[in-house]
Amino acid sequence: MSDAGDPAAPAVYGLVGHPVAHSWSPFIHGMFAQATGQNLVYRLFDVVERDFRRETLRLIADGVSGLNVTLPHKQAAALLVNELTARAARAGAVNTIVLRPDFTLLGDNTDGAGLLDDLERNLGLRLGDQRILILGAGGAVRGVIAPLLGRRPSGLVIANRTIARAAELAAEFADLGSVSACSLGQVTGPPYDLIINGTSAGLSGPMPEMPPGLVGADTVCYDMAYGRGHTPFTLWARSLHAARITKGWGMLVEQAAAAFALWRGVRPDTRPVLEALEQHR
Ligand code: ATR
Repeated sequence: MSDAGDPAAPAVYGLVGHPVAHSWSPFIHGMFAQATGQNLVYRLFDVVERDFRRETLRLIADGVSGLNVTLPHKQAAALLVNELTARAARAGAVNTIVLRPDFTLLGDNTDGAGLLDDLERNLGLRLGDQRILILGAGGAVRGVIAPLLGRRPSGLVIANRTIARAAELAAEFADLGSVSACSLGQVTGPPYDLIINGTSAGLSGPMPEMPPGLVGADTVCYDMAYGRGHTPFTLWARSLHAARITKGWGMLVEQAAAAFALWRGVRPDTRPVLEALEQHR
């Protein structure tokens, strides 16, 4: 794939997932590379679940220097790599694979750092002593629980359609802070300071039925999904007059910057990319 003998050949990175065609990562990493003067290309690799291990190893053997991993492979990636960073081990999920000089694979998870960077740095939120509600208990949520609990919220509630998955996650992270689980229909008020949507229901289909009283005049609603226009979750938040409603563009760009820094040793400025994406929000 990349010509290791040619010093002018760009290093190859990319995203493994299914589906990936909608991804903005090539655009984001392309802007990062240009701004930091790094000679690299970023490609999309659509790989279905049963082929993940074989295709990822083939890409590495073909000369790929590093990979991002997205749905549905984040947990499988944690089992594939030779070593995990502490945060990836804690999450049990990997979104960034680094090929090291000794040909071992390091798995990291930059999702939580990306979410915190967006909430705190870009949106100016304070998370300590706040009541936080997370909707969903899948791979997208798994990576962000420990970083959120690290900010010492007064409580973190994980609500999921399948309560057993929420309960499993809450038990797994109970040593890190006040975290509890319930079903979507059982969430109780008073209004939360921050509600984060991590269900794939945010992408299409109707917003799941939620009890009243969860969104107040000061509630910030954050959809980890991104795309053009409103999602079922942001429409729900708007109908309840949330103080602020945001989609996950900032998280996407910040987790990408953290991955880029791991691969290339230089941390790109995210502001120009956030501004360039503004028109798509
Ligand atoms: P991901 O890794 O993207 O989180 P996932 O593991 O399939 O993917 O999880 C998707 C999440 O969206 C889950 O929390 C799922 O709820 P279940 O655990 O009950 O399956 C949630 N989800 C998907 N569709 C939903 C819907 N229509 N209503 C409510 N929750 C939904």
